[in-house]
Amino acid sequence: MFGEHKDLLGIKQLSAADIGSILECAGTMKSIMTKREKSTALQDYSLATLFYENSTRTRLSFEMAGMNLGMNVLNMAVATSSVNKGESLIDTARTLQAMGADFIIVRHQSSGAPHFLSKHVDACIINAGDGMHEHPTQSLLDLFTIQQHKGKIEGLKVAIVGDITHSRVARSNIWALSKMGAQVAVGAPQTLIPTELQQTGIGVFNSVHEALLDADVVMGLRIQKERQQSGLFPSIGEYSRFFGVDANRLRFAKPDALVMHPGPVNRGVELTSEVIDGSQSVIEEQITNGVAVRMAILQLFSKERTE
Ligand code: CP
Repeated sequence: MFGEHKDLLGIKQLSAADIGSILECAGTMKSIMTKREKSTALQDYSLATLFYENSTRTRLSFEMAGMNLGMNVLNMAVATSSVNKGESLIDTARTLQAMGADFIIVRHQSSGAPHFLSKHVDACIINAGDGMHEHPTQSLLDLFTIQQHKGKIEGLKVAIVGDITHSRVARSNIWALSKMGAQVAVGAPQTLIPTELQQTGIGVFNSVHEALLDADVVMGLRIQKERQQSGLFPSIGEYSRFFGVDANRLRFAKPDALVMHPGPVNRGVELTSEVIDGSQSVIEEQITNGVAVRMAILQLFSKERTE
């Protein structure tokens, strides 16, 4: 339990104080990582990763986070599991729980899958990305990275550029950044911006330079071809020509603006290689911070289980 939360299902359920506590604990975890220390704080606990969609960063960083805290770590390879014999999501999760998993880290193509599991298993369910809905741990590591560089989140302008409609990272970040007092602007073709955003207080722009103007942080998002219907924009080439962030467009942001991307990146589509590998980029640091933030989440959500 973390306060009243049994599970981490989304940013929507967290208060600004909850987010602040996770970021503070991530700072402690990052020092443990930097010193290359190993903790045995959660040695009596087990986590299982249950990913129905592909992942590199999220799955491996949860496994690394668990090992850094002394946990037993199980990886359930969905592609070669009894899911292919028809075993349901709930029976699979209950199987992992029956083997002793205290945490089940779940990524699923259906929005709401972790919320459903949360009602049917006692283990702590952590949402590692559900459809086009939320990716809360990515958002928390993004906030942690911003805070480490800028010393604050409140009052910053964060521009999010790319496929907003299909992005669970965008949704979680818009909620998290707004809760923490940042100003958010999104930039994308109209067809890649969900209509509900027009009714919120965030800035919505159909050009990159307007979204980036005086931004403290520029966050690129992947064009999610696997979730898109055809016809949302004419071609990838045309998208990158009009909406890709290159060195010239980056100049609309503040000179010390951070460049971020949750990964995986389509190089040359949403960001050019010059921007990805440039001095303002903190993309690799986001990956390292992902381990620290996930250690913090495991530590905090195990709290009353250890008491
Ligand atoms: N950012 C992110 O979720 O990356 P993976 O798909 O590699 O986990």
